[in-house]
Amino acid sequence: MRRTTLATALLAGIALANATSNATATCHLIATAISDESALFWPLSIGYAQDNLHWATSSSALSACSVEPGTAQDVGTILQILGSTQTPFAVKGGGHATNPGFSSTSGVQIAMSRFSDVTYNSAAQTVDYGTGIVWDDVYSALEPFGVNIIGGRVSGVGVGGFSLGGGYSWLTNQHGLTVDNVVAFEIVLPNGQVTEVTRQSDADLFFSVLGGYNNFGIVTRITAKAYPQGQVWGGLRVILDIGDNWDAFNNATVKFQAEVTDPKAQILPSFNTLVGAPVATIIMFYDGPTPPAGIFDDFLAIPAVDSDISTRSFLSLVQSSPIASTTRAVFNTVSLMTLSPALMKAIVNETQFWTAKLALASANFISYDVEPFLTSLFTHGSIQATAYPPTRAQGLLPLNIYYAWGLELDDAFMQDAIRQSAAHLKAVAIAEGQDIADAPVYGNYAVLGTSVEDVFGDSLPRMRVTKQRVDPNNVMALAGGWKV
Ligand SMILES: Cc1cc2nc3c(=O)[nH]c(=O)nc-3n(C[C@H](O)[C@H](O)[C@H](O)COP(=O)(O)OP(=O)(O)OC[C@H]3O[C@@H](n4cnc5c(N)ncnc54)[C@H](O)[C@@H]3O)c2cc1C
Ligand SMILES: *[C@@H]1O[C@H](CO)[C@@H](O)[C@H](O)[C@H]1NC(C)=O
Ligand SMILES: *[C@@H]1O[C@H](CO)[C@@H](O)[C@H](O)[C@H]1NC(C)=O
Ligand SMILES: *[C@@H]1O[C@H](CO)[C@@H](O)[C@H](O)[C@H]1NC(C)=O
Repeated sequence: MRRTTLATALLAGIALANATSNATATCHLIATAISDESALFWPLSIGYAQDNLHWATSSSALSACSVEPGTAQDVGTILQILGSTQTPFAVKGGGHATNPGFSSTSGVQIAMSRFSDVTYNSAAQTVDYGTGIVWDDVYSALEPFGVNIIGGRVSGVGVGGFSLGGGYSWLTNQHGLTVDNVVAFEIVLPNGQVTEVTRQSDADLFFSVLGGYNNFGIVTRITAKAYPQGQVWGGLRVILDIGDNWDAFNNATVKFQAEVTDPKAQILPSFNTLVGAPVATIIMFYDGPTPPAGIFDDFLAIPAVDSDISTRSFLSLVQSSPIASTTRAVFNTVSLMTLSPALMKAIVNETQFWTAKLALASANFISYDVEPFLTSLFTHGSIQATAYPPTRAQGLLPLNIYYAWGLELDDAFMQDAIRQSAAHLKAVAIAEGQDIADAPVYGNYAVLGTSVEDVFGDSLPRMRVTKQRVDPNNVMALAGGWKV
């Protein structure tokens, strides 16, 4: 393919794409401007289908074309064309956002999949990773070196949105969030400039991008702190709502959150309804080949219909839970200070209440995940270090609510239901004295319609000043997401 200069492309752009933006015309401009390292795909091709694919089918859209940039320079070329033609676009990492339009568009779909390198730097004890891969790729690349970085807990999640939004990991009790462990990143600014950013080189941009998603440009590479990683213990157990199983499960969860202080131990309990049938699951994790006696005994004593617990690699543990989705889905969240017995009961009641109610719609899965991190989880990063979390004054435990369903006509109904459920549980927590009325919520879990004030809180003023400097024409507003 012959490479035309950007200037030629932009001149042609003014001629082809008018003020109302013709995304197809913009695609033609991009096709002629990008290098051989990149590729553009049209509808009906396999590349186009892959680039538009999302974990939740409700997050996919039919774009005018898709483009897979292969170099940061090409990302710059693409951003300049999109900006000058004012064409809506989307940036997709792993495509796990559950809000429609956050990484999908009817305009130009950018897929980051060609940014796929994972490089361990043993001298610096850091790892460089491209933003177009999933965490499984990172873990399997690092396993031979006996090191790890702070990333996703289940299989298939993209590194891009995860690393730029916060990042709750199995290692968070020991080392904080993913954003707390980033030491540098390469970002392509809306003016096309490719720049490496550290806290020393540009403190405001470093702060703003870590938590700020796609508001400031497109991140192509991240450098994160590496930690030694050996065999771990744990896996998945599935518990039916028979006899006092769930009561015991609730008690064990409350006790774990109240009493376990070993930062290497973690659990992810969840209450689900799978096509109408109640099922609880728990993923247990210990960062070592054998957990100390006692920590997980209460959970192990509850009869399980399925159990996959062993000493294994970190990757094997992450892949122990089946989480493929081929259905419409939405997440929502409440930030909690603690898990009391009453709150746990209210959560179980929510699964029952909404199972009955949503059976009328095409619901096929309802899930409430409680995440009992140590309340010291935000102390691993310094105050004012990253845009998310906007306050580190108190530890907050994200509750993840997840509904899945079949029919597009039920989208609004399901989104409304998940808003009501989160509001109810927040009210229950406040009523029992939890100081969470103004607590920020995790953007990677929050449903569309949540205000950016609720996601970014006190970080917003600094983010907005930075935004004005690096994106004065607001090019990144052409892409969806939590917009500052
Ligand atoms: C099954 C499942 C499990 C999950 N588990 C966890 C968990 O354990 N811990 C946790 O913290 N979260 C978890 N999440 C939430 C997860 O963090 C978000 O879905 C996250 O956005 C995924 O990143 P992605 O790259 O796949 O998403 P995408 O949908 O590709 O992107 C999400 C947002 O980030 C932006 N973005 C992506 N890449 C870039 C880039 N390179 N430059 C600029 N902007 C970019 C996109 O434009 C979009 O707005 C989970 C989600 C699912 C569906
Ligand atoms: C958009 O551009 C394409 C190709 O450049 C052209 O064929 C088409 O007619 C244009 N559509 C509109 C609505 O302007
Ligand atoms: C759960 O805890 C409550 C309160 O301590 C107790 O009454 C109940 O018997 C416990 N249930 C089980 C199954 O252990
Ligand atoms: C169960 O949940 C519904 C819906 O949120 C609520 O109206 C009801 O009061 C709850 N019941 C109990 C016992 O908590």
